[in-house]
Amino acid sequence: MQPYLIAPSILSADFARLGEDVTSVLHAGADVVHFDVMDNHYVPNLTMGPMVCKALRSYGITAPIDVHLMVEPVDSLVPQFADAGASIITFHPEASRHVDRSLQLIKSHGCQAGLVFNPATPLSILDYVLDKVDVVLLMSVNPGFGGQKFIPATLNKLAEARRIIEQSGLPIRLEIDGGVNAENITEIASAGADMFVAGSAIFNAPDYAQVIQQMRQNLAK
Ligand code: DX5
Ligand code: ZN
Repeated sequence: MQPYLIAPSILSADFARLGEDVTSVLHAGADVVHFDVMDNHYVPNLTMGPMVCKALRSYGITAPIDVHLMVEPVDSLVPQFADAGASIITFHPEASRHVDRSLQLIKSHGCQAGLVFNPATPLSILDYVLDKVDVVLLMSVNPGFGGQKFIPATLNKLAEARRIIEQSGLPIRLEIDGGVNAENITEIASAGADMFVAGSAIFNAPDYAQVIQQMRQNLAK
């Protein structure tokens, strides 16, 4: 397994002073910026696009930006996000007509590519594209909103995804997104995750560094 990564979801950040807030969370010890893109079509909410990603890069954010696309269609946004400075681009297989093509498109633009699995989406599609995937992201809530409760059935699914990844021998990240906090992170890591998205648990806390430190302590258990 690779070292654990903590990826605050900026969905819960202060959008009026985003550059500053992202800088603070990185100074507080975060590894990756998780960037949730919602289109009010694939999911019932609307957030931000490539311009905001580009603005964060211009502001001086150099940490990896993990773009989670909850949009349909997928492909037209890939070059735009790559140009805007995305490091990782993940998408939901239900939202792309040609999953293999979308994965190749992301990689051809120099980004790491990933597939996102909703709580009720089976992992079977991985059988055919595992060699083109750098990240497997399991949703532990239904996508669209921050602040929801972790769905416990995701723990078994994480274990299954971990088995698939280990069997492949490929250096694929296993990311978890939704309802992650310092209390449940130990159990989630034991189930196999190595990259942890947390929005409300970090940004709603008064001291980002304290939560992130607590998460790392609980990951070491
Ligand atoms: C939900 C998003 C998540 C969300 C996580 O659709 O993909 O990244 O912001 O927020 P919390 O950690 O509050 O569940
Ligand atoms: Zn997300």
